[in-house]
Amino acid sequence: MLSREFYNVVHILGIILLMSSLGGVALHAMNGGTSANNRSRRFTATLHGLGAACILVGGFGMLARIGFTHGEMFPPWLLVKLMVWILLAAAPFLPYQRPHLARWLMLGLPALGGVAAFMGIYKPV
Ligand code: HEM
Repeated sequence: MLSREFYNVVHILGIILLMSSLGGVALHAMNGGTSANNRSRRFTATLHGLGAACILVGGFGMLARIGFTHGEMFPPWLLVKLMVWILLAAAPFLPYQRPHLARWLMLGLPALGGVAAFMGIYKPV
């Protein structure tokens, strides 16, 4: 049986993968790059997908280890984290569709990541 600590490492690894790929895409768009002329598109998309998957696997793995059962209602702190995950999972399209928002994505990464981390660590609600 895989431990809570193992899932925590998978969770953090996923966050690092996802953040680094989104940072790369945002910088490319800030420098005037488009989706078509991004020669590392497949690479960053792979890192992003892998990261998003690791966050979920690690997160749900930890949930199972801390005693959550199937069918149990998700507490608010977890719903906030899931919303952050959805936003960051959908984020790679943003800098290409709206290049002027690429800078905001770069700033939004630590802000959203910070909110999700706060929710996981303090569980205020
Ligand atoms: C991009 C979004 C997310 C970020 C940045 C994030 C970040 C974090 C961080 C920094 C921790 C603390 C790890 C530690 O204890 O050292 C944590 C814990 C946790 N996260 Fe996330 N998380 C995200 C999304 C999710 C999602 C989608 C889930 C649910 C599937 C989830 C479930 C958990 C759980 C269960 C914990 C452990 C809580 C505990 O220790 O009792 N997280 N998260």
